[in-house]
Amino acid sequence: MKIIFLGAPGAGKGTQADIIAKKYGIPTVSTGVIIREALANGTDMGLKAKKFIEAGQLVPDDVVIGIIKERLAKSDCQNGFILDGFPRTVPQAQALDEMGITLDAVVSIEVSDETIVERMSGRRVCAKCGASYHTVYNPSSDGKTCDKCNTELTVRKDDAPEVVKSRLEVYHTQTEPLKDYYGKTGKLRLVEGQERVEDTTALVVAALND
Ligand code: AP5
Repeated sequence: MKIIFLGAPGAGKGTQADIIAKKYGIPTVSTGVIIREALANGTDMGLKAKKFIEAGQLVPDDVVIGIIKERLAKSDCQNGFILDGFPRTVPQAQALDEMGITLDAVVSIEVSDETIVERMSGRRVCAKCGASYHTVYNPSSDGKTCDKCNTELTVRKDDAPEVVKSRLEVYHTQTEPLKDYYGKTGKLRLVEGQERVEDTTALVVAALND
């Protein structure tokens, strides 16, 4: 299976991508996770990306396309993958087409801007393994540490309210046009994000079986 998850920042695409990837036994490829890792490790690419991420802007297309080409060439992606957060612009989608990748589905998780702002304020993440939680809707077992690797949970810098506003603007102007792009292929599935993670998953699974 080769599936793209689209959606506004905080729509829950990372959460759903991880659940579906586990179900199919394929990797999640998240450009956001890869970039944050590079940032934490202080690599050249991380340093290049830093100012864009912290301002809620997109990292330049050539950087992100390079990341994806390298990642998708690895052996674990040969039987399929879930793309979370890529593509995010029409040139990125065109680059994916030029790589000769045939997609099975593009799932867009639809959530209002108001709900996004509420979700971002409660998000807690594991800086070590990238797992994402919410203080109210999807808490870790003890509310403080990661269930997967026991690391203390933190707040992402780009979840500050003013940065979330920029990320939403960027989404509406640069990423939302991808719904038209993929709508024309007949592979786009719109899924209304629900209050509970498992209710959204049920809709995603139904959409993928359509
Ligand atoms: P990235 O990490 O991809 O961030 P994002 O798209 O802004 O997405 P998020 O991870 O914030 O949200 P999500 O939809 O995955 O939501 P989640 O499941 O965590 O990118 C970060 C930055 O990197 C970008 O701003 C950009 O600078 C750069 N970048 C990355 N890719 C790029 C690209 N291709 N091109 C250029 N630049 C790129 O859920 C959010 C919260 O809600 C969590 O707390 C979760 O627990 C909770 N939640 C999830 N589902 C539900 C539910 N159903 N009900 C209630 N709560 C829920």
